Amino acid sequence: MKFKRLKVNQNAVDLNTKLEETMNTAVRGYDQIMETLLLGGRKSDYNDLKYEFDGGANDELRRKHYDKSLKYLWKAEKNAPWSTFSDCTEEEKTLLKLAEQSLSDLEKVEVKRMKSDEFKNFLNQEYTKEEKQAIVNILSLIGHGEAYAWLVSNEVLRDVESTGAKAAVTMQVMEEAKHFVVLRELIYAFDVEVPRMPVWLYLILEGTLKSEGLEKFFGMNVLVEAFAMSMFGSMSSLPGLEILTLFHRDESRHTGLPTNYFKTKPMTWFEKVNPFSMMNRLRLFLPAIPLAMNLEKDFAVLGMDVFEFIGSMGRKIINLAYKVGFYLPIPKDNLKQVLNAIFNSYCKVMREDYKYVDFLNCEATTGEEELEIEKEVFQLVEAA
Ligand SMILES: [Fe+2]
Ligand SMILES: [Fe+2]
Repeated sequence: MKFKRLKVNQNAVDLNTKLEETMNTAVRGYDQIMETLLLGGRKSDYNDLKYEFDGGANDELRRKHYDKSLKYLWKAEKNAPWSTFSDCTEEEKTLLKLAEQSLSDLEKVEVKRMKSDEFKNFLNQEYTKEEKQAIVNILSLIGHGEAYAWLVSNEVLRDVESTGAKAAVTMQVMEEAKHFVVLRELIYAFDVEVPRMPVWLYLILEGTLKSEGLEKFFGMNVLVEAFAMSMFGSMSSLPGLEILTLFHRDESRHTGLPTNYFKTKPMTWFEKVNPFSMMNRLRLFLPAIPLAMNLEKDFAVLGMDVFEFIGSMGRKIINLAYKVGFYLPIPKDNLKQVLNAIFNSYCKVMREDYKYVDFLNCEATTGEEELEIEKEVFQLVEAA
């Protein structure tokens, strides 16, 4: 490339350079002093001298979360043909058309059925009004949770250090946005009333959003997302809800994020056992119990025992919390025993045909793929 060089006034160049250097010293010096005095200073944790965020590149975390999320990125237009989304590229649309042409007549009917109005008719054939309402009551909890997951991950993006960690959380922000809008359409397709957020969930989600710094990882990536994974894992095998397998896959990466992040930037011993933090974690965890109990009737309509679900979910949340280093005021095994005792006492009083059940050892997830993923996330096997 050949450029035709223009003439410049060297004095002007020198003057502008000097002006910028003087201003730079003044502005950055002022910010430095304010930072030292804890009165503010530079807001971003970006180091332009190193062309990197504070905390370094952390390519390992980027590969595990950002790259992997891009690899498993799913499109609503392809996986939820009943939705209004149009997010496939031209190439993807062509591939979809080719795939549809290769389907048998029976399979074509199946695909067509899943488009908008046909999808609603399909749901009406599969479920009674009461069953549809039960599904919406359960799914809308996660729907409200997705809205907060979007907000919380957006705040965590600022709190995590390193370029790799910020890239990882950016993918979570994007995926939570997709979860919220796709799940909202799925819920509306059931054509029943969408309930408001129960107060127990309100306490968990608002408490999480108000948590300090990376304590948000506990409320969101451990508690709420393990709750969501348990829901998706127990409902993705229901007709019309197959897309929840894809949500489950995304959430598994999100629940794995704190473990992988703290591997590269470990929590201090005090951060793990700080009595105030441990009490705050318990405060966020406890409303999950009455929240799930409130769903007893909805679960029963769908042929599921809510205590088996809470027991299974409780075990997973406790395992994951201790795996990450978010200790609770009660030791892990004792907490499981206490929960088992509470659930059994409740059932003894409230159920006619009561028999002791080790609820904390129940497994509510039914899908094969979901069980395989959860083995890695919750059973303390190293995250990939
Ligand atoms: Fe989500
Ligand atoms: Fe998530």
